[in-house]
Amino acid sequence: MKPTLLMARAVFPDVLDYLGQYFDVEANQEDILFSQDALIAKLQGKDALYAVSSQLVPAAVIAACPRLQMIGNMAVGFNNIDLAAATAAGILVSNTPDVLTETTADFAWALLMATARRVTESEHWLRAGKWDRWCYDGFLGADVHGATLGILGMGRIGQSIARRSMGFDMRVIYHNRSRLAESDEQYANNAQLVSKEELLRTADHLVLALPYSPAVHHTIGAAEIAQMQPGATLINIARGGIVDDVALIAALREHRIAAAGLDVYENEPAFHPDFLALSNVVLTPHIASASAPTRRAMAMCAARNLVAAFSGEQPPNLVNPGVTRKVVAHG
Ligand code: DGY
Repeated sequence: MKPTLLMARAVFPDVLDYLGQYFDVEANQEDILFSQDALIAKLQGKDALYAVSSQLVPAAVIAACPRLQMIGNMAVGFNNIDLAAATAAGILVSNTPDVLTETTADFAWALLMATARRVTESEHWLRAGKWDRWCYDGFLGADVHGATLGILGMGRIGQSIARRSMGFDMRVIYHNRSRLAESDEQYANNAQLVSKEELLRTADHLVLALPYSPAVHHTIGAAEIAQMQPGATLINIARGGIVDDVALIAALREHRIAAAGLDVYENEPAFHPDFLALSNVVLTPHIASASAPTRRAMAMCAARNLVAAFSGEQPPNLVNPGVTRKVVAHG
C-alpha cells in the first residue's frame, strides 16, 4: 500500500504525476485554501503533507494529526510550520534551498531598481494619461551605481544579491549573525561586515534577506527607520513581520526615507491597505522566486524530499535532521 499524501495547494501537473508514482495523493488542483479545521480534517489518515509557505501548520494541527510523518514545504522559508512541535512529534520537515537563490536575487534587484528609479510610479502616471511634456525634475530618483548597498541577512540569497552589485560599482556592507568566510565576502563583492546601526546609517539601498523567526519580528521598526538616510530605499524580499509595516507606512508618508520595495507583508495576502495610498512604495505579491524554471525546480525539490523519506532515504533538505521519526502502523 502506498503512503498517503495531502497537497495543500495546486501544483504543476507533472509534479503531481511524479508524486502519484509513490503516494496515494489527495490533490488540490482547485487550489482551495484550507482553514485550520479543514486542514486537520483533510490530514486525518494522511502520512504526509506537501505544503507551501502560505499554508500555516501550527502546533494545533500537528497535535491533531497523529499519523502525519512528514511535511515537505515548497519554499526555502519554513516559518509557516511550527518546527519545534513537528520535531517533538517526530515529523520530518523539509524545504527547498538553493534552487531559488539566483532567481530571488534577480528579483531583489528588480525591486531595488524599480524603487530607486520610480519605475512603477511613473508608469502608473503615464497610463493615467498625465504625460504631456518632459520636465527637468520629473520623477527624480536615487542613483544605484556607485551607491552603498546594505544587506541584512547574508545567507546564500544575500550573497547572490551582493555579487550582482559588482556591475554597478557599489560598495557592499552587511550585517549578519556571524561574519562570512573571507572567500564568501570576496564572492559577495568584497562585502564588509558592519554593526546593524552602521548598516542602517550608511546604506543608500538596504535589502532585507534574512529568514523570519520570532526573534527577528519587527527588526526594522520606527527606531531603525529613523536611523536611515532620508534618501534611502528599503527592499524586503525576505518575509513579512521582519518590518513593522505600520511604522514603515508612517515613515514613507512623511518621506523620512525615500521609498520602499516590498514583496512580502505582515499578514499577507491581507496586507495593510494604507500602502495602496502611497506613491513611494513598489508592491509585488510575494513573487521573488516566481520564474517559470525556478518554481518548477522548487516544486520538484519538495516532491523529491517527500519521495526520498518514504523510500527509506534521508530527504536531502531536511530542516530538522535531529528528529526521531515516528513509526506509524498503517491500517
Ligand atoms: C520561499 O521559498 O521561502 C519563498 O518566499 C516562497 O515562499
